[in-house]
Amino acid sequence: MKKVMLVFGTRPEAIKMCPLVNEIKSRPGEFETTVCVTGQHREMLEQVLRVFDVVPDHDLAIMKPGQTLFDVTCDVLLRLKAVLEAERPDVVLVHGDTTTSFAAALACFYLQIPVGHVEAGLRTRDIYSPWPEEFNRQAVDIVSGYYFAPTEASRRNLLDEGKPTDRIWVTGNTGIDALATTVREGYAHPELEWARGSRLILVTAHRRENLGEPMHRMFRAIRRVMEEHPDTKAIYPIHMNPLVRKAAHEELDGFDRLRIVEPLEVLDFHNFMAASHLILTDSGGIQEEAPGLGKPVLVMRDTTERPEGVEAGTLKLVGTDEDVICREFSRLLSDADEYARMSRASNPYGDGHASERIADVLAG
Ligand code: UD1
Ligand code: UDP
Repeated sequence: MKKVMLVFGTRPEAIKMCPLVNEIKSRPGEFETTVCVTGQHREMLEQVLRVFDVVPDHDLAIMKPGQTLFDVTCDVLLRLKAVLEAERPDVVLVHGDTTTSFAAALACFYLQIPVGHVEAGLRTRDIYSPWPEEFNRQAVDIVSGYYFAPTEASRRNLLDEGKPTDRIWVTGNTGIDALATTVREGYAHPELEWARGSRLILVTAHRRENLGEPMHRMFRAIRRVMEEHPDTKAIYPIHMNPLVRKAAHEELDGFDRLRIVEPLEVLDFHNFMAASHLILTDSGGIQEEAPGLGKPVLVMRDTTERPEGVEAGTLKLVGTDEDVICREFSRLLSDADEYARMSRASNPYGDGHASERIADVLAG
């Protein structure tokens, strides 16, 4: 029986790893499963664990307010060592591109424990964009022994770097597995009632490279355009990072057609996406979820590692220049043809069965 440990620490990792935890746990004859959370996030992680009913075996509890990359890397590395030495798993699964994933993979490398990378092979090839995530994902792929690539394009990225073809499996993205169970007909929420009758704009923002002036420009652009379009209302579930909160309140307070709300539980967030007219974000995961729902996304970043959604027409990169965001946002609100072109549903990121495929590979 294979001893599998899953290590994750932030909201998006949890959303994409919990379906896999539950799949692996549903096969007790094949796997002995251990879940270790680093606690890089706290409230935002716990929201997800609750929804998926996942109870961690270990919690490294590293989060501190305003933590730096040094804090996260050092604390994960040192605290995970003891857990790995005690558990001695046959394989450790990490996800994506966070500092939790990077430090956990490094800890496994130091102890010579095989690593499986879920969501392997995404690339912008610019280690400063997104920062530090592009470095993190490339570094995890240096030490991995199993590459679970979500798409054919991510498989090709890995092959281009010389990763062995027989260690790469195209599985789809486990985030799409989650989406299959969350979006519901007849879903209702008081905030959606407030927005009823208006075109609902959903906003999120958190990237480290956007903190400071870029984030101020993003918020100013959103407010400017919405002031010109009285038939819009926006809901902005705000990230818990205090720097994000400060910028958002400085730019958006006093504008009553935009509501800043606390982070939504994933079930609610997915249903808010489904009810929205369009989405403005710098998030990675939302770029994967939106195409399946046919929701246009203006991506407030200079690069994306998700070209499939751009090719499908759902995503448009608009950067963080205030005038460019204004122009593209206004256009999408005014130009029905452009809106129709971007709102065609497609599923470039998977069919909802990624977790099963990953478990099959690990069992084999
Ligand atoms: C992290 C990841 C990023 C991912 C994002 C998802 C890194 C370097 N960054 O960025 O790749 O896209 O998560 O959201 O790994 N905080 C809380 N409670 C929470 C979560 C955060 O209070 O539940 C606050 C804390 O003050 C914390 C700060 O937010 O210090 C920043 O959190 P951190 O995980 O370091 O960075 P994120 O920007 O969330
Ligand atoms: N999400 C959520 N509640 C929110 C905002 C986002 O559950 O209030 C979900 C969203 O559906 C997606 C994930 O969180 O699955 C994206 O997380 P985030 O944007 O924090 O990180 P990224 O994907 O950029 O790493």
